[in-house]
Amino acid sequence: MRDVCKIFETERLNLRPPAMEDAHVIFSRYAQDAEVTRYLLWRPHTDIAETRAFLKKCLDAWASAEEFTWVIQLSGLSEPIGMVAARPRGHRAEVGYVLARPYWGKGYMTEALSQVVDSLLSFSGLSRVWAVCNVENPASARVMEKAGMTCEGILRRWNVFPNISSEPRDCHVYARVL
Ligand SMILES: CC(C)(COP(=O)(O)OP(=O)(O)OC[C@H]1O[C@@H](n2cnc3c(N)ncnc32)[C@H](O)[C@@H]1OP(=O)(O)O)[C@@H](O)C(=O)NCCC(=O)NCCS
Repeated sequence: MRDVCKIFETERLNLRPPAMEDAHVIFSRYAQDAEVTRYLLWRPHTDIAETRAFLKKCLDAWASAEEFTWVIQLSGLSEPIGMVAARPRGHRAEVGYVLARPYWGKGYMTEALSQVVDSLLSFSGLSRVWAVCNVENPASARVMEKAGMTCEGILRRWNVFPNISSEPRDCHVYARVL
C-alpha cells in the first residue's frame, strides 16, 4: 500500500490524525453516548481513561500503519465532532465512522467518508474499500451509498453488537472498488 493522506480539507470539514489532547472533547461529545455507540462494536466509555487508552491505540496504529484514524472537525474549529478510520489489509481497506449526535443529519459523514474513500482508492494503491453496518442502522447504509459504495448483500449473523445483545446480528456489506 502506498502512502495515506494525513490531512483532508472538504467544503465544511477538516480531517486530521488524533492527538491525546482530544480525549476530553471526544469523551464528552460522543464516546460516552449510548445512542451514538448503539450500533458500534465498543461499549460507551464510562471514564475518560478509556478514551485516552483508545486514542493511544489510534496513535500507535498510525505509527505501525495498521489503522489510520482521522478526527473530523468543522472547518476553522479544532475540536473533534467525530472520526473516520481505515484498516488496510493488502489491497483492501475496511472503513468505520462515528459522529457526535448534535451533528447528525447535516451530511457531514457523507462529506468525510466520500473524501477518505476517494483518496484511498486514488492515491493509496487499494482496489477495494469496504464496510459493514448492522441491518437496523439505515443511516449508516445511506451514508455509504452516498459515498459511492454499493451494497453487496447481507452477511448473516456477522457481528456481535455488545450494546444490543450477545447474539450475532446480520450486517449489510458495502464496498467501492477500483
Ligand atoms: C451513521 C452516522 C455516521 C450518519 O452520519 P450523518 O452525518 O448524520 O450522515 P449524513 O447526514 O451524511 O447522511 C445520513 C443519511 O441517512 C438518512 N437517514 C438518517 N436516519 C435514517 C433512518 N432512520 N432511516 C433511513 N435513512 C436515514 C438521512 O436522511 C441521510 O440521507 P439523505 O441525505 O438521503 O436524506 C451517524 O448517525 C452516527 O455517527 N451514528 C452513530 C455511529 C454509527 O452508527 N456509525 C456507523 C457504524 S457502521
